[in-house]
Amino acid sequence: MDPVVVLGLFLSCLLLLSLWKQSTGKGNLPPGPTPLPIIGNILQLDLKNVSKSLSNLTLKVYGPVFTVYFGMKPIVVLHGYEAVKEALIDRREEFSGRGSAPVSEKSRKGHGIVFSNGNRWKETRRFSLMTLRILGMGKRSIEDRLQEEALCLVEELRKTNASPCDPTFILGCALCNVICSIIFQKRFDYKDQTFLNLMERLNEITKILSSPWVQLCNAFPVLLHYFPGRHRKALENQLYLKTYVIEQAREHQASLDINNPRDFLDCFLIKMEQEKDNPHLDFTFENLAFTVYDIFIAGSETTSSTLRHAVLLLLKHPEVTAKVQEEIDRVIGRHRSPCMQDRSHMPYTDAVVHEIQRYIDLLPINLPHAVTCDVNFRNYLIPKGTTILTSLTSVLHDDKEFPNPEVFDPGHFLDECGNFKKSDYFMVFSAGKRMCVGEALARMELFLFLTAILQKFTLKSVVDPKDIDTTAIVNGLISVPPPYQLCFIPV
Ligand code: HEM
Repeated sequence: MDPVVVLGLFLSCLLLLSLWKQSTGKGNLPPGPTPLPIIGNILQLDLKNVSKSLSNLTLKVYGPVFTVYFGMKPIVVLHGYEAVKEALIDRREEFSGRGSAPVSEKSRKGHGIVFSNGNRWKETRRFSLMTLRILGMGKRSIEDRLQEEALCLVEELRKTNASPCDPTFILGCALCNVICSIIFQKRFDYKDQTFLNLMERLNEITKILSSPWVQLCNAFPVLLHYFPGRHRKALENQLYLKTYVIEQAREHQASLDINNPRDFLDCFLIKMEQEKDNPHLDFTFENLAFTVYDIFIAGSETTSSTLRHAVLLLLKHPEVTAKVQEEIDRVIGRHRSPCMQDRSHMPYTDAVVHEIQRYIDLLPINLPHAVTCDVNFRNYLIPKGTTILTSLTSVLHDDKEFPNPEVFDPGHFLDECGNFKKSDYFMVFSAGKRMCVGEALARMELFLFLTAILQKFTLKSVVDPKDIDTTAIVNGLISVPPPYQLCFIPV
């Protein structure tokens, strides 16, 4: 071999080794499995189900706080209610950073909510939460929009004529339409070509971002250079959505009435105008596009996967479904649309929705957090910027709070008298400063859509309920239900 090549290889190895030593040498990180140079603990982790491999590690040796290396990057894992609560709630400010995801970083340059940090994140998040609250109370409230969509959803399900169908497409349309209605003020027909295009691109992005390949690229960003692969397709779709949002915003600008905002875009445009001379804030078209993009990505697949899981669990447990339908008959009746006020009179249905969310454990390892400064945690020193993974599975499946956590049982959220029972362990939407921005919206969607479906249809399985397998397929970050078919029989 050419001596220059040998020397080059030797020097590269030295450089990589020294980088690795540097990254493992900082702070006094919690213990964990010994990492190999360059690849860290990647061979001990199943990239298709990171949550499960992390649980195995904690059960085996390391206890509730340990470190694993994704490539050369140390990641501190918190397992169990106590550790997760201590970080996300008791020390919320220090643990409020967002862990880095190199795949998303290059294009968005710190814009939006999900992957932003610092002041820009705080301001954009505060604005988004406030806007969702204002729109929730407005002349055409979010509840009105959801009720309208629920009626359309029921009509679409009626068109299946009680024959076997996979509900993925119709449920996906309804939930994507909710976001369209909040952001752009308009809902689309389920056959509208612009809408179908939008949905297809969103689905593709979600699929790519949760693939094991992208997780690998996040661990070894250098791969992005040499194997641009599928993530390039995700970036292409991201650009399409960004352009679409900016086009819509420009159209909105032309008919904007600052005293009467119609939707999220109007509210953002008004804020942009108010803050245009403030150099410290970032209410720009670029930030608007990524904020809306984040709301679409975070707000459609999460709720539609949950609803698909919900219908499957209701098929598997007809005795639970019958009790919910009995409560619907008693409180709402057959003719009027369900509304949010009904929920407080429907403890069993409320418990069922909570149990569905607990049981399916939609985001098993949460989104990655990061510490915003050097943090002393349980006698370890975690340096500023270190990524933190919080196991939501370990909280939602805690066997003291939820006896037999692997069993689907609405009784987990009911007291002896049949009243709804809250639990601090219900961390489906996470907790603390980064907690889901869409929690209130998602809870409304799940209640209104499920009750609207069960009010008008009997769910009929195409196989014996005993043979239904509800085991989720963990797909990168999200647990998705297995594909299935059912019949919606009008009542
Ligand atoms: C069943 C449905 C949903 C579940 C289970 C869910 C769960 C979560 C979780 C676990 C996080 C990460 C929190 C953290 O980092 O600690 C999150 C973040 C987020 N969610 Fe949701 N979510 C749902 C629906 C929605 C909806 C409908 C929206 C639309 C408004 C939304 C918008 C967001 C945003 C913008 C973030 C990022 C927050 C931040 O980084 O500050 N989510 N969600």
